[in-house]
Amino acid sequence: MEIFIDSAHLDEIARCVDLGVIDGVTTNPTLIAATGKPLPEVIRAITEVVNGPISAEVIAVDTAGMVREGQALAAIHPNVVVKVPLTLAGLSATRQLTEAGIRTNVTLCFNLPQAVLAAKAGATYISPFIGRIDDIGGRGMGLIEQIVRAYDKYGFPTKVLAASIRHTLHVVEAIEVGAHVATLPAKVIEQLVKHPLTDLGLERFLADAAKVPTA
Ligand code: E4P
Repeated sequence: MEIFIDSAHLDEIARCVDLGVIDGVTTNPTLIAATGKPLPEVIRAITEVVNGPISAEVIAVDTAGMVREGQALAAIHPNVVVKVPLTLAGLSATRQLTEAGIRTNVTLCFNLPQAVLAAKAGATYISPFIGRIDDIGGRGMGLIEQIVRAYDKYGFPTKVLAASIRHTLHVVEAIEVGAHVATLPAKVIEQLVKHPLTDLGLERFLADAAKVPTA
């Protein structure tokens, strides 16, 4: 499974890239707004830190506008993937961008038929939002499982990108159900590494190492 970082914060991205576990980046308008900088500037800076797919989201809501913005974003760097919302206009934009050879990440997916339609329109990635489904009493991971199974059954090449991940259990389950990618906030990436027995084991090893006479 590939691991993306869900962030537009350059220091945070660089810190996680340094661990050697990051395959790509996802951003969204909320994350970009938090930087206080223009979208193209942030995306260009991320391309200098990460060598992998970097999702940048359009903000137009009509097809022509999405395609125009998507082309401009894709021109920033070959690693840019254009993020398009799962609307009628978004599907049409996905088809047009795909035909133009531009990779897309279709976002804000909340059910199986939406995911199948996105795949038919040529989406490179589909982003079901697990945490937001859980927030309203649904089972987000159940949707990931359904989509993985359906794409496999019908041979769609679209990759299932588990998004809106809130905690480490989401990651464990995403691995188990076969999500192709999980995009994680930096906080979750760092939590994944921590285990009390690792800390305790290291403490004991260091204490024992200190007893060994130096030559
Ligand atoms: C994914 O591409 C989105 O940016 C993100 O995962 C949304 O997460 P949230 O529901 O925690 O805002």
